[in-house]
Amino acid sequence: MKERVIVVTGGNRGIGHEICRQLAQLGLIVVLTSRNEKEGLEAVANFNKQGLSVRFHPLDVTSPSQILKLKDFLSKEFGRCDCIVNNAGIFLDNKEGNFFNTDIATVRQTMETNTYGPYMLCQALVELMKKNNYGRIVNMSSGLGQLNDMGGGYAAYRMSKTAINVITKVLAAELAGTNILVNSMCPGWVKTRMGGAGATRSVKEGADTAVWLSTLPDGGPTGKIFRDRQEVPW
Ligand SMILES: NC(=O)c1ccc[n+]([C@@H]2O[C@H](COP(=O)([O-])OP(=O)(O)OC[C@H]3O[C@@H](n4cnc5c(N)ncnc54)[C@H](OP(=O)(O)O)[C@@H]3O)[C@@H](O)[C@H]2O)c1
Repeated sequence: MKERVIVVTGGNRGIGHEICRQLAQLGLIVVLTSRNEKEGLEAVANFNKQGLSVRFHPLDVTSPSQILKLKDFLSKEFGRCDCIVNNAGIFLDNKEGNFFNTDIATVRQTMETNTYGPYMLCQALVELMKKNNYGRIVNMSSGLGQLNDMGGGYAAYRMSKTAINVITKVLAAELAGTNILVNSMCPGWVKTRMGGAGATRSVKEGADTAVWLSTLPDGGPTGKIFRDRQEVPW
């Protein structure tokens, strides 16, 4: 069997960068994507210096044309795509914001990146997974998107993360019976530019469940949401 090829979005920094490191350390071929080409290339050069098999491809997840270019690259270079980690995300809500003063442009912009980007990427790349009847899709969600425990504030971000869970459920249902497993996860509160310095977890801890879901064995769970490798309620 050829080596597995894994696409990670938002790999230039934060949790995505650490996911790339951990997956490459397992010997997988990682395609680190980022919208910031300079930072993405620098990250890849550093990984390569450490002997890790990481390649770069530019990707702004909101760009349909860049998604098609990525698909073309994967087809020509590897003839496969075994895993997508939909990690890229934004948090635009004002910390003091509420439902009434969060303007709809903020909601739309957040949905474009956090939800519609992953939707389009899955639409494009699942075809390559079907070819080999193998695929793992990891959707980076958040506790803030859990309906089970939904509170006020952060309306745009919350909606986008609840909606990415819908992608997980619908895709998992439509791919039932195949060897393509689709799951959501929450990384916890992680020290990154988004999480801030007061967060309780390291990027290493935040990346762990994503790496585990990316490498699930055949017959593993699908259509579920996890935190610390444990299933949690929606
Ligand atoms: N940190 C936490 O506590 C926490 C908690 C729950 C969930 N999460 C989720 O975990 C994921 C990673 O977050 P993080 O904490 O690592 O945040 P981060 O440090 O702010 O990194 C976010 C990453 O997403 C990229 N990105 C944003 N918009 C993009 C776009 N349109 N196309 C491609 N890349 C884009 C950023 O690229 P640029 O450098 O170009 O901006 C960056 O690489 C996100 O989905 C986030 O919602 C984080």
